[in-house]
Order: sequence, then structure tokens, then C-alpha cells
Amino acid sequence: MHSLPNSFLVAFSFTVLVDASGSHYWSSPRHRTVAHRQLSGETYMIQDFYQGEDFFKDVPPIYDWTFDVGSDPTDGNVIYQSQSDAQSKGLAYINDSNNSLILAVDSTSTVAPGGQRASVRITSQKSYNGGLFIFDASYMPVGCSTWPSFWTVGPHWPTAGEIDIVEGVNNQDTNQMALHTGTNQTCTNEMTNGTQQFTGQIKKTNCYSTGRADSGCIIEDTDTSSFAYGFNNAEGGVFALLWDNSTGMSIWHFARANIPADLIAQTPRPSTWGIPAGFWSSQTCDITANFYEHQMVIDTTICGHWAGGGIYAQSGCPGTCSDMVANATNYINAKWVINYVAVYQYHIGSGAYAPSPRLPLTIILSLVIYLLLL
Ligand SMILES: *[C@@H]1O[C@H](CO)[C@@H](O)[C@H](O)[C@H]1NC(C)=O
Ligand SMILES: *[C@@H]1O[C@H](CO)[C@@H](O)[C@H](O)[C@H]1NC(C)=O
Ligand SMILES: *[C@@H]1O[C@H](CO)[C@@H](O)[C@H](O)[C@H]1NC(C)=O
Ligand SMILES: *[C@@H]1O[C@H](CO)[C@@H](O)[C@H](O)[C@H]1NC(C)=O
Ligand SMILES: *[C@@H]1O[C@H](CO)[C@@H](O)[C@H](O)[C@H]1NC(C)=O
Ligand SMILES: *[C@@H]1O[C@H](CO)[C@@H](O)[C@H](O)[C@H]1NC(C)=O
Repeated sequence: MHSLPNSFLVAFSFTVLVDASGSHYWSSPRHRTVAHRQLSGETYMIQDFYQGEDFFKDVPPIYDWTFDVGSDPTDGNVIYQSQSDAQSKGLAYINDSNNSLILAVDSTSTVAPGGQRASVRITSQKSYNGGLFIFDASYMPVGCSTWPSFWTVGPHWPTAGEIDIVEGVNNQDTNQMALHTGTNQTCTNEMTNGTQQFTGQIKKTNCYSTGRADSGCIIEDTDTSSFAYGFNNAEGGVFALLWDNSTGMSIWHFARANIPADLIAQTPRPSTWGIPAGFWSSQTCDITANFYEHQMVIDTTICGHWAGGGIYAQSGCPGTCSDMVANATNYINAKWVINYVAVYQYHIGSGAYAPSPRLPLTIILSLVIYLLLL
């Protein structure tokens, strides 16, 4: 890690994939016998729902997202903007016609090769210890040198862990999901009982991360609508992280046309969503010990440890990453269009639909009044 500006007290590290050699690829058996908890009366209730101006507000109970200011801890060629600077430069705004949030990279200024281009990184003020996290975007940053991500992270990286829900670089076809932990051998994504309980492909199995070896345990989606151009061509979609201490971490991706009706209706029932793209079982990962007090982060960096490493040339991208950053026109499509972010919490039983206690009281009162009138 490098000396970080104060605004990066939530120290972290992104996934760095040095090279694909030595990573493990299982032959994707895709068994459909999945042992996810099937809960009758499964109820998730909205805890926080962020949309439109919510991302710019600092007024409880609608908690704000902080605009992280300064250089990028992953050494990306960006300079993150304050809320007021981002708004005045047109890098953060709400589309009033439908309340979507746009977070963009500067696509009008020329900067020096290897220089720093203005971008945006926002972090939720509130932190979470579990739940169902929903990220709905209709467009994500694309193109050579870009490195967009939606992820969560706890304090004192990597002690309280990191969960990369959406992440990738350059012209990557599919989404790369990963966990990072601060202790060795307490969290892996080995297949339990020889059965793969997710549709993605394992690329790294040990979640333990240090400043020098911080790839984490990686599962790559196999669906090309999960990232970059494929995601945007599908009008985006939803990513869902279910963080459940007793079961594990599950991540689903749904292209716009395939978002479950229960999720659209804000009554999500993840047990009905089928096999997730990524799953890290609590049988091979001590979730409680490794993940706590996570804040959510949305950002776009350029080049940096991952996008600008050896993978840049391997991606078929032209020239060098440093030269790429100089040219404003390369960043016209480097923007997020975010419909909403929501966090749900599980409620045992049918709490959400319990009849109001006022109802019997109203009936009793009516009866009393009726009897008095007689
Ligand atoms: C805002 O949203 C409307 C309605 O979906 C869309 O037609 C328009 O292109 C969007 N404007 C911008 C600047 O993204
Ligand atoms: C974690 O432990 C394994 C097994 O002891 C070891 O091979 C590996 O190098 C360790 N990882 C790190 C990053 O220290
Ligand atoms: C793995 O097998 C053990 C022993 O049969 C069982 O208790 C456990 O639930 C199985 N795990 C999964 C994920 O199927
Ligand atoms: C999950 O574990 C974390 C970390 O120990 C804890 O703070 C949290 O309360 C647990 N969540 C639930 C729902 O039990
Ligand atoms: C900038 O990038 C665009 C698109 O990649 C390219 O057509 C153009 O020639 C580049 N301009 C310069 C000055 O490098
Ligand atoms: C806003 O409009 C854009 C462009 O038409 C669309 O992709 C996005 O899903 C819309 N967002 C909402 C919240 O309706």
C-alpha cells in the first residue's frame, strides 16, 4: 500500500491479476443440485434504498455517499473529484427525466501521457454486516484502460475483508468476482463435496490477500452480458450479493430482460433465483471472522495496478496505457448510469406481512362505541 490521503482511511486494494498462468480452471460441471437454504416465508425488507439525489445528500435517515477526493490507492491515472467539482465538471449528475445517477470519467480535457484524468469514486457512509445488496445499472464504463468496480470493503484492509461484486479491466468480456481476506487458510473457494455450486469459473482459490499478493479468490462469470459492452448491449442489469454468515457469499447477475419479478417488486426471494454466478461457501470460508463493517464503493479508475499492467497489451488494446489516458475521446463511454442501490435485510417469519395490531383495536373500539350507542 502507498501513503494514502486521509479520505482513503478505508484502505483497500483492488484485485491484481498478474497473469493467468498457474490459475486453476475447473471444467465447469454446472451441477444443478444446489444446497442453498430454501426458506419458507423468506422475507427480505429494504433497509436502505439509494436513488437519484440520495447519492448527493448528507441528511439522515437518507445516508449520503462520500465523494473520495485525491489520487487513487491503486495508482490509477485518475484524480478523484469532490462532489462539487464532480458536479460542476459534469462528472456526477442526475438524469432528471428518470432519476438515474451518472458517474463519468472526464472525456473533454487533454492530459499529459501518464497523467491524471478526473474521475469519481463514491463510498457509502453507512456500513453493513450482512444482507442482500442490489446494484442496478443500465450502463457501465467501457474501453481500453478503464477499470470500473462496484465493491464493498471493511476497515483496516484486508482485516475486515473486501467483496468485489462487479469488476474488470480493458476489453474484458465477463465480470470478475472476488473476495479478499486478511488471514491465510480461513477462507477459500474450493468446491465443497466436489460439487460446484455456481455457474462461474474459479480462477484463484485462496482469498488471503496482502499488499503484494492481492488477487484474492476469484470466480469469473461466463455470461458476456455481465460486463462491459455485453452488459451495455443488454441495457445493463442487476448484480445481487447475498452476504449470509451461515451460508456464505452468493453473487448473481441478471441481464435487464431477466431480472426476477420479485426483485423488481422489491420483495426479493433469492432462494428462487437459481444457481448464482459466484458462491463462496461458509464451509470453506469463515465469513463471520473475515467480513464486517463493509461500506459500498463505486468507482472508475484508469490503468493502475491491474488495467495498466501486462494485461493491457494482452487485451488487444493499442499503444500503451499511459498514452491512452492522454486522449479525451477514449473516455466518452467511460461512465456509469446507475438506477439504484438497495440493501435488504432478512427477517425471520413473515414480519413484513404481519397484520397491523391496530386492526383488532379498531374493531374492538367500534364494537364498544356500537354497544354504547345501543
Ligand atoms: C435521460 O433519460 C432519458 C429517459 O430514459 C433518456 O432518453 C436520455 O437519453 C437520458 N439523458 C442523458 C443525458 O443520459
Ligand atoms: C498461505 O498459506 C499457504 C499454505 O501454508 C502458503 O502456501 C501460501 O504461500 C500462503 N499465502 C501467503 C500469501 O502468504
Ligand atoms: C457436504 O457433505 C457433508 C457431509 O455429508 C454435508 O454435511 C454438507 O452439507 C455437504 N455440503 C454441501 C455444500 O453440500
Ligand atoms: C455476521 O457476522 C458479523 C461479523 O461477526 C456480525 O457483525 C453480524 O452481526 C453477523 N450478521 C448476522 C445477521 O448475524
Ligand atoms: C484519440 O483516440 C481516438 C479514438 O481512439 C483516435 O481516433 C484519435 O486518433 C486519438 N487522437 C490522438 C491525438 O491520439
Ligand atoms: C433511465 O434511462 C436510461 C436510458 O434510457 C435507462 O437505461 C435507465 O434504465 C433508466 N433508469 C431508470 C431508473 O428508469
